[in-house]
Amino acid sequence: MTLAEFLAALDALSADAPARIAAAADLDAWTDTRNTLVGRTSGRLTDIMANLGALPKEDRREAGQRANTVKVAIEEALETRRAELAASAASSGPALDLSMPPRERWRGAVHPVSLVIDEVVEIFRELGFTIALGPEAEHAWYNFGALNFPPDHPAMDLHDTLYVGDEQVLRTHTSPVQVRTMQQYPPPVRILAPGNVYRSDPFDPSHAPMFAQIEGLVIDEGVSFADLKATLSHFARRFFGPSTKTRFRPSYFPFTEPSAEMDVQCGVCAGAGCSVCKHSGWVEILGSGMVHPAVLEAAGLDSEKYTGWAFGMGPARTAISRHGIPDIRILYDSDVRFLDQFAR
Ligand code: PHE
Repeated sequence: MTLAEFLAALDALSADAPARIAAAADLDAWTDTRNTLVGRTSGRLTDIMANLGALPKEDRREAGQRANTVKVAIEEALETRRAELAASAASSGPALDLSMPPRERWRGAVHPVSLVIDEVVEIFRELGFTIALGPEAEHAWYNFGALNFPPDHPAMDLHDTLYVGDEQVLRTHTSPVQVRTMQQYPPPVRILAPGNVYRSDPFDPSHAPMFAQIEGLVIDEGVSFADLKATLSHFARRFFGPSTKTRFRPSYFPFTEPSAEMDVQCGVCAGAGCSVCKHSGWVEILGSGMVHPAVLEAAGLDSEKYTGWAFGMGPARTAISRHGIPDIRILYDSDVRFLDQFAR
């Protein structure tokens, strides 16, 4: 072979290579192309190089250099093409079928207990109430003493709780916020205090050891039981519907006198009696009463000058009677099959 023939073979290879490389449509085809062009055992460049020894000695150096230039150019072109193929393989993925039904998206929802709290807060906000908050780990004096629980009084049996420190308890109701508010702000006071409370109650269909309460408190001069009844009845009609009937039953709390429980006519059976209202036609909604003079005095107010009323309701109880939920524990299970229903 002559140098001219050797170089002509190289020229033919480098003229042909770009189109072949560009024609490789996927990584398998690319591998075949590379083997054909520069493969070590049977590639075209290898075949040409095999003739190097047959060239005149003085031509070998030039022939070798030219062959190397062609080799580098082809390898660069191969590498560029390989990168292109790899990138498009990564981005294309499976075929896009626009006729497929979309997978339903998960939507968050406000928890039914939070919904009740929000609605109650909104109704009382319209009446000029603001929000007050207090600690869940509460001093026993605020939870009991200031609220006129005599030491070891049987009323405390319903308020058994954990002592988390010296004289510090997990609060058993939101009523301590009454005392904290009266200490901090001069009358007139109109506040709502939502928050969690703790009791050593069993976890059963109608009890939970931790649950939410909403406290309400009004303090001013000349406030009477008529204000309590009117305001709470208005609330019941706003919350449960304009024709809602309410009734007040005498009750007992150490921190209110007189005290009353408010019932609303059962919304599920309209008073006829069903399992939600335990066949009484009525559902208990809240405890209430006129703030006891001893509580006003404990908070530093003159009980001859000021009077007031208070209530405490359990939004979880309200939520289960409103939705006919058979077991209060469902509210605390975080089961999306239950919670999902409130997203609509
Ligand atoms: N704190 C009482 C309870 O948890 C409810 C209540 C609040 C009653 C305010 C009267 C006035 O049972």
